[in-house]
Amino acid sequence: MEVVILPERAQIAALAADCVETLLKSKPQAVLGLATGSSPLALYDELAARHAAGRISFRRARAFMLDEYVGLPADHPERYRNVIEREFASRIDMAPDAVRGPDGLAADLPAACRAYDQEIRDAGGIDLQILGIGSDGHIAFNEPGSSLASRTRIKTLTPQTIADNARFFGGDRELVPRHVLTQGLGTIMDARHLVLLAFGRAKAEAVHQMVEGGVSAMWPATLLQLHAHATALLDEGAAARLQLAPYYRHAYAGKPPWQGL
Ligand code: GLP
Repeated sequence: MEVVILPERAQIAALAADCVETLLKSKPQAVLGLATGSSPLALYDELAARHAAGRISFRRARAFMLDEYVGLPADHPERYRNVIEREFASRIDMAPDAVRGPDGLAADLPAACRAYDQEIRDAGGIDLQILGIGSDGHIAFNEPGSSLASRTRIKTLTPQTIADNARFFGGDRELVPRHVLTQGLGTIMDARHLVLLAFGRAKAEAVHQMVEGGVSAMWPATLLQLHAHATALLDEGAAARLQLAPYYRHAYAGKPPWQGL
C-alpha cells in the first residue's frame, strides 16, 4: 500500500482529485466508487471546483456508492443517496441516472444486494474507489468481524459506529438506523484502484492497523494490504501511530514525478 502523509486537508483533496482527473482524461467513461462520511467532502469540493473551472467532465462517467442505511425515507437528508446528490452529484455534470447505490428501501433486501453486485460487474467494475475508514477500522459499513470475502449485503452497525454517526442525526443515537446495506469487502477489493482518505487523531489506531497490522476481520481495512493498488492519503493526525512514517515520507519525497498515484 502506498502511504502519503501531508499536512493539509486541501493538499490531500487535491492529490485525490488529480487521480480522478487523470483517470477521466484517459477514460471519460470511467466508473467511480463513491464514499460518504466526512472524509471525502474536501475531495468532492475540489472536484466540483475543477468541474466549474472547465477542467473535468463527468458526462460519460458512472458511479457506484459504497453503502446505504436501511429504511431511511426516500427524502431523508441523511439517506446516503441524498448525501451524495447534495455533496457531489448535483455539483457536476454526471448523467441523472449515472449514480447508483444499494436500495435501502427494497422489499427484498438480499435480492437488491445481489442485483447491486451484478450491476457493478455489468458496468465493467469500478476503476477508482474512494474510501474513508471508521475509527474501528471499518470500510464502507463492513464492521469488525465482516467476512473478508463478503459481497454486498445487510449489516448491523456497531455501537461505536452508531455513536460516531450520531453527529449526522442531531447527536441522537436513537435516530441512527441499526441496519445498513454495504458493498462487501470482496466487492471493494474488485475495484482496480483504492484511494482511502483519513483525517485526524481519532483515525490513528485504525490507520496503523490498516497499514501495519496483521490482516484480520477484527480490522476490516487491513484487507487493503492484499490489494495490488491501494493508496492511503493521510494527514498528520491520522498518521500519528504509523511506525514506518519516516520511511513513507522518504519514499513519497523521492517519488519519480512520472509515477502518479
Ligand atoms: C461511515 C461510512 C464510511 C466512512 C466511515 C468514516 O460509517 N459508512 O464509508 O468511511 O464511516 O466516516 P468519516 O469519514 O465521517 O469519518
